[in-house]
Amino acid sequence: MTSERQPVAFGDLRGWIAALDGAGELQRIEAEVDWNIELGTIARLAQGAGTGPALLFSNIRDYGANARCRQVFTGGLSSARRVAMMLGLPPDTHPRELVKLGRTVLSQSLPPKIVKTGPAKENVVKGDDIDLYEFPVPQWNRADGGRYIMTYGGVVTKDPTSGVMNVGIYRGMIGGKDRIPILMWRAQHIGHHVTAWQQAGHKEMPIAVAIGWEPSLGFVAGSPVPKGLCEYDVIGAIRGAPVELVKCETVDLHVPASAEIVIEGYLGLDPSTFMMEGPFAEVTGYVAGDRSPKPTIRVTCITHRKDPILRGTIEGSMPGCYSENGMCSSIMRAATAWNVLDRAGVPGITDVWCPPVQAGVNIVVQIKQSYRGQAKQVANALWGSSAGHVRYKHVTVVDDDIDIHDYAAVDWAIAYRVNAGEDDIVIMPATFGLGLDPSTRKRDRNTSLFGTGKWNRMLIDATMNLDYDPDPEFDGARFPPLVWPAPEDIDAVKARWSELGLDKPRRK
Ligand SMILES: Cc1cc2nc3c(=O)[nH]c(=O)nc-3n(C[C@H](O)[C@H](O)[C@H](O)COP(=O)(O)O)c2cc1C
Repeated sequence: MTSERQPVAFGDLRGWIAALDGAGELQRIEAEVDWNIELGTIARLAQGAGTGPALLFSNIRDYGANARCRQVFTGGLSSARRVAMMLGLPPDTHPRELVKLGRTVLSQSLPPKIVKTGPAKENVVKGDDIDLYEFPVPQWNRADGGRYIMTYGGVVTKDPTSGVMNVGIYRGMIGGKDRIPILMWRAQHIGHHVTAWQQAGHKEMPIAVAIGWEPSLGFVAGSPVPKGLCEYDVIGAIRGAPVELVKCETVDLHVPASAEIVIEGYLGLDPSTFMMEGPFAEVTGYVAGDRSPKPTIRVTCITHRKDPILRGTIEGSMPGCYSENGMCSSIMRAATAWNVLDRAGVPGITDVWCPPVQAGVNIVVQIKQSYRGQAKQVANALWGSSAGHVRYKHVTVVDDDIDIHDYAAVDWAIAYRVNAGEDDIVIMPATFGLGLDPSTRKRDRNTSLFGTGKWNRMLIDATMNLDYDPDPEFDGARFPPLVWPAPEDIDAVKARWSELGLDKPRRK
């Protein structure tokens, strides 16, 4: 059952933090913590498998009372409970319902409202005063190539022809007091914009990064919202109220008026301006995205609120430790895939899930089969979609008697419904893919050379094979009956359950 959604406009990051506090979802860390490795280590150890709290650090070494910025917030969306809260649902809503809701909210639209000014403009820093080191940007991991200031900010760019803005999450490292090299791929929407600005003869592209706002900013910016639909419109639909935007000071772009910190500037498109970036502890749970020259933001202005809160996140889900990206991806990457399948006309889809531990690189699709080859249609549709660029490497398709939220059920289906010699395993070689996956050879992860990574994709068709002949012994079914007892046998035994002493605890 889907509960009735009550969209919430938290107002800003502070409103979200207050809501988390009220719901017992926040841990304030007031003891002194070092921005250098310690803060990131705490964040990773506290994360858990969707079980850890959101964290607000307010006593950071070197960033005391007189610092421009003294606080770091992370982990706001590293649990399904908090994703449910963001969507205006009870915290205990089952992830399956979040996926179903994600199917509609990620394509709904409520346009933003432009306002004259807002708290984001309380401080305006330009010219020589710009110094990114004034912010307590963590060295999140010992292995990172530097201090990553862009980990969960909404990166705003604009199509030079249509004027439609895109808001995405792209990582960026401090390269100097006013320089941020970033990781961007050509197949992402920011990459489409880079291509368009280059083709129009520009050497730089205007860019703005909005850091710290309501949770829907990160959720939507990290989602593959269809090209041409602005993320601000989708965020408006999620929160049930238009996003109030202000114009940037030095670029023709708009950012949320109550954002904590806004970095404005120009992204250099000429390789002579690129700076070294990477590596970074990445989405895969491995250190990735090798140190190499990357397009770099020349910062022209920073605006921020009084006593701003830096919003950031650690990347990389692993067993027992799910990142915010992993948790959000499990919901919105599944929702997006379900919509892709619907639009492609694949019938009989009954459930879709991307377990958070791998952020949707493996996807499980449950179908009610009605004809031979339906699982292959599922995989083809997913792999042909642009949403499949950095996800859906391994597609597992199961019948509708398999609960895809239950690893054991999926494992059992793979054990007994897959026959590799009967075309149940299909490999689609050399497609586009995630350039951060260490199972891809290093040469093929060179996104500067190829614009994307390279994935050999696989379908595991764990459905009952409809190419087999119906068996008269099984009443025309292809597979034999399960060993699970018949309902009348179950009822008869249940009636004797207490007589048999099976309802009593055995251990004192
Ligand atoms: C925490 C986090 C970090 C991310 N880092 C990057 C990155 O460094 N480069 C990149 O191209 N995509 C990155 N992504 C994925 C993109 O944000 C995602 O694919 C999104 O759909 C991109 O927006 P677009 O669809 O408008 O291109 C990240 C996502 C999250 C949630």
